[in-house]
Amino acid sequence: MLNRISLRTLAFIFAIFGFIACNSDTKPDNSVEEKISELIGKMTLEEKVGMLHANSSFTSGGVPRLGIPELITSDGPQGVRPEHGRGWNALTNANDSGTYLPVGIALASTWNPELGYKYGEVLGNEAKYRGKNVILGPGINIMRSPLNGRNFEYQSEDPFLVSKMVVGYIKGVQSQGVSACVKHFIANNQEFHRNTLDVQMSERTLREIYLPGFKAAVVDAEVNTIMGAYNKFHGQYCTHNKYLINDILKGEWGFKGAVISDWGAVHNTEEAIMNGTDIEMGSDIGVLGKFSYPDFYLGDTVVSLVKSGKISESVIDDKVRRILRVMFKSSAFSKESIGEYGSEKHINVAKQVAEESIVLLKNDQNFLPINPSETKSIAVIGANATRKNAMGGGSSQVKALYEITPLQGLKNVAPNIVYNYAPGYTIERAATANKAMISEAVEAAKKSDIAIVVGGWTHGFDYNKWSDNAYDAEDTDKPDMKMPFGQDELIKAVISANPNTIVVLVGGGPIDVTQWVGNTKAILSAWYGGMEGGNALAKVIFGEINPSGKLSVTFPKVLEDSPAHKLDSFPAENDEAKYTEGIFVGYRYFDTYKVEPQFPFGYGLSYTQFQYDDLSLVKSGDNVTAKFTVRNSGKVFGGEVAQLYVHKNNTEIIRAEKELKGFEKIFLKPSESKTVTIQLGKDAFQYFDEKKNEWSVEAGEYEIQVGGSSRDIAQKAAFSL
Ligand code: BGC
Repeated sequence: MLNRISLRTLAFIFAIFGFIACNSDTKPDNSVEEKISELIGKMTLEEKVGMLHANSSFTSGGVPRLGIPELITSDGPQGVRPEHGRGWNALTNANDSGTYLPVGIALASTWNPELGYKYGEVLGNEAKYRGKNVILGPGINIMRSPLNGRNFEYQSEDPFLVSKMVVGYIKGVQSQGVSACVKHFIANNQEFHRNTLDVQMSERTLREIYLPGFKAAVVDAEVNTIMGAYNKFHGQYCTHNKYLINDILKGEWGFKGAVISDWGAVHNTEEAIMNGTDIEMGSDIGVLGKFSYPDFYLGDTVVSLVKSGKISESVIDDKVRRILRVMFKSSAFSKESIGEYGSEKHINVAKQVAEESIVLLKNDQNFLPINPSETKSIAVIGANATRKNAMGGGSSQVKALYEITPLQGLKNVAPNIVYNYAPGYTIERAATANKAMISEAVEAAKKSDIAIVVGGWTHGFDYNKWSDNAYDAEDTDKPDMKMPFGQDELIKAVISANPNTIVVLVGGGPIDVTQWVGNTKAILSAWYGGMEGGNALAKVIFGEINPSGKLSVTFPKVLEDSPAHKLDSFPAENDEAKYTEGIFVGYRYFDTYKVEPQFPFGYGLSYTQFQYDDLSLVKSGDNVTAKFTVRNSGKVFGGEVAQLYVHKNNTEIIRAEKELKGFEKIFLKPSESKTVTIQLGKDAFQYFDEKKNEWSVEAGEYEIQVGGSSRDIAQKAAFSL
C-alpha cells in the first residue's frame, strides 16, 4: 500500500525498474549483483526466509515493502499449464487455452536442435504472456526403462542427444526473458515410489549417463533454475543432496541460479538449508489447511535456526541472492503483458515439430505413402484415433486452443476418402479384448481399401482419475510393455480381415509389437503430437510430408530384453533402486551384448534413400574432424539424421560397443548431396575412470562410424590417439 512505503523505498523501486528497462542481458552483471546486495541489505531475516518457500501452489514469496514480487512458476514441458490461481483447482474462467506442443519424446525424435530452440521460444513467449517467470521444463531424465510413466515428457536414453536438444530448448525459453527449469535432478527414472526411492549407481554411471544432460543445461545453456528430484540418491534426498548440489552443481559446474524443490520434495530443514536447496515448493501443504506456508521446512524454522546461531544468515543471503538473480533474468519486475498466445506463429512451430517427429518404423514394399486419389475408403480403427491428449499425463497438462486428432487429420488432408471409424477397444483400466468391438472393427476393415489402426499407449486423461487409465502419466509406471486394452487381438483380427493394414502407435515410448509386426504393411510412431499432431500424421500417411523422425530410444522386442528388466532391477524393491546395468542403458546394452532390438536407437525410415560416402578424418592434437557426404539417392525430397558413433578398437576397459558423439539433420532434394562436418573434441573419446576419479582417454585405435541409425552404419574410418 502506497502510504506505507517510504519515499526512499519508492526511489529504490524506480531504480530497479529503470535498471530492468535498460538491461536485458542474460550474462552475470556486476551492477545486477550490486542491486541485489542493496536489496538484501534492506531485508529483514523474516523477509528473506519468506522468499525461500511457496506462497501459493505455484509462487514463492516476495517482499512487497521493497517492490519484490512473488516468483511465478508454471508447468510444464509442452505448454503453459492451465491457471490454478493460488490453489489447486483449475480456474474455469481463465484465458489459458494456448499452444499445445508435441511432448518431449516427440521433440527429441526430430533430432533437430534448432527446432528445440523454436519450441523453447514458443514456451517462453507464452509463459511471458501469461505472466510467468519460470516454466517448469524441460524434463530430461534418462529413459532407463520403457515402463517409466513419464518417458513421454523426457527426451532420450542417450545423454549426448539429450545434451544437444536441451540446450536449444533452454536458450529458446530464456531468450524470451523467462527462466527454464530443467528437471528432475537426478535419477527420477521411475515413478513408482518416487517419494521414497533411494537410487544407487556407480560414479561412472552417474558421470557418463545421468549427469551430462544436466551439465549441458547448466554449462552450455546457462539455465536459470533446476528442479531437485523427489527420490534419494545414495541415501540422501536429491532436493537436498550435498554431493549433487553443493559439490557438483554449484561447485564443479559453478551454477549461479536457484535450485527449486520438486513439489513437496523437501524433508528436512537443516539439510535443505545447508545442502543447496534455494526454494521449497509444495504440493497441497498449505492448501488443505493443515499447515500454513511459513510452516514449510524452509519457513519459520529457518528463522529460529538463524536466530539461535545454528545457521549463519549468510547462507540465507546466498539463497536470496540466487532467487533475485533469477527474478532479474525472468521479467519478474516488469508488469507488462508481452508475448503471444496460441498465435499462428506458435502453432506453426507445433506443426513443424510434429511433422519432423513422426518415425516410420516399417514400410513393407513402400506401402506408404497412400495415394489419396487411388483410395476410396479407409477404415480408421482405435480409440486413439479420436482421443485428445492435451490434458493427460499429470502436471504437464495443457489446455489446447484446439487439438487435431488422427481421424480429424486424415479428413482434413484427404477429404474425399470415405472413413469408416470403429473404436475397436475401450480405454478403461483392466479392459481386455472386446469381441463385439473387434467384430465391428473387422467389418469396417473388410469394407475399406485400407485399414489404419491408431493404438498404443494412453495418457491418464482426467487429472483426478490418473489411476483409472494411466500409462503415460505422472506418479505411475506402466505395468508391462504389452499393448493394453486387448489391442494385440484387435490388430491381428483387422490384419486378417484386410492385409492392407497399417498401425500407428501413439504414446510415450516403446511398446511390444511382436504379435503382429511381421504381418502389418507399415508402422508409424506418432507419440503425443500436440495440437497439430493429427494433421502431421495424415500428411505423412498421404505423402505430403516425408517422415524424418528417428528413434531417441531403443524399442526392445520384449520387456525382458531391456537391461534394467533383464537384471530385475526395475521397478525397485524395498525402496532401493540399484542401477546394476551401470552404463549399459539403451543401445549401449543392446549393441554391446548383441541383443537384437525390435527397432534400434536412431532408426527411422524415409520415403527416399540416403547414401553415405567419402568419410575422412583429420586429426589435430586431441581433436578429430570427421567429414562425409550424404546424398539423396531416391526420388523425393527428404530429411536425414546423419549420425556419428565412436567405437574403441581393442578396448582394455569395459565400455559400450559404440556411443553417439555427433549428428546433423539435413534436408536434400533428389540427387542432391551435402558434406557433413562433425568436430570431435577430447570429450568424444573419454570415459570416467573411477580409480582416478576423473575423465580419462584410453590410448589406441578408435573407429568413427557414420550412418542412418545405430544399427545402420554406412561408413567407418579409424585413427589413433
Ligand atoms: C512434478 C513436477 C512438476 C510439479 C509442479 C511435481 O509433482 O514432479 O514435474 O513440475 O509437480 O506441478
